[in-house]
Amino acid sequence: MKILFTYDMFREGFASLEERYEVTFPEGRDFTYEEVMSRIAEYDVLCSMFDFPVNKELIDQAPNLKLIANYAVGYNNIDVNYAVEKGIAVANTPDPVTAPTANLALGLMLDVARRITECDRKLRALGKNMKIGIMENLGVHITGQTLGIIGMGRIGKALCKRACACGMEVIYYNRRQLSLEEETKLNVTYVTKEELLVRADFISLNAPYTPETFHIIGEEELKLMKPTAILINTARGPLVDEHALVRALTEKRIRGAGLDVFEFGDYPLPELLALDNMVLTPHIGTQTTHARLEMARAVSNNVIGFIEGDRPVNRVYKS
Ligand code: GLV
Repeated sequence: MKILFTYDMFREGFASLEERYEVTFPEGRDFTYEEVMSRIAEYDVLCSMFDFPVNKELIDQAPNLKLIANYAVGYNNIDVNYAVEKGIAVANTPDPVTAPTANLALGLMLDVARRITECDRKLRALGKNMKIGIMENLGVHITGQTLGIIGMGRIGKALCKRACACGMEVIYYNRRQLSLEEETKLNVTYVTKEELLVRADFISLNAPYTPETFHIIGEEELKLMKPTAILINTARGPLVDEHALVRALTEKRIRGAGLDVFEFGDYPLPELLALDNMVLTPHIGTQTTHARLEMARAVSNNVIGFIEGDRPVNRVYKS
């Protein structure tokens, strides 16, 4: 079996693959799309990164391809329907990403609410000129507040548990309502999207990026939110209409936002960089050494499980 990686990292996480198969890494960098296009014909398995497009054009160049193993839980970079039609399996890595992403979402909530990085920035920039006083840097509580989670999959549920531990009330909106048993266990209430937008003090996006979730937060949704609301996005950038968010934050129609992902690629709109009421991180939801290594092991297990049939594979199916 010949395996092609689009990226190179943590070889120890992929050691079990290198022991068994013929594996090609780009050696200290990522392969470009063109490089993968020119090589893919001879490979059985493609190990892709979440930002690498595995589209029809690429799949059509891959007569031997049997499996696309994505390094991520999100797989919006892959044309899954086309791959599956062509008899190619697709796999992802949900388990190792759940806790770190939920932790970052909670971290962003606390950061925006308590103005942690804003105060850090001011202290560094102003030094002794920073006004310090018991009423100078007032933030808001998360305890006793309502969190609205849009997308109640594994990460949404993990965030829910953390928020409940912090004394928050949690409401959620999802494609499908959870079972009564699960809702009771998690202590959450299902509401419509509109009700969530109107009621929540914090809104966290934890849904996959699909045609249905594109701009799930746009101008109209921002208008429904409380003027004190804080929006958190650790899912995918295009879930939020970033231009509409700039307007809402600039006009102080919502209190603030914490974004780990951006609509137009790796960087936020420049207007967002100028705003104090926001925290921006460069897609670090799973950037811990532990998570990275566990994700590498999950990719390896998916590939070995698919080829040898000796362990479970996290398969992704047609929508
Ligand atoms: C990261 O963004 C992931 O989808 O796992």
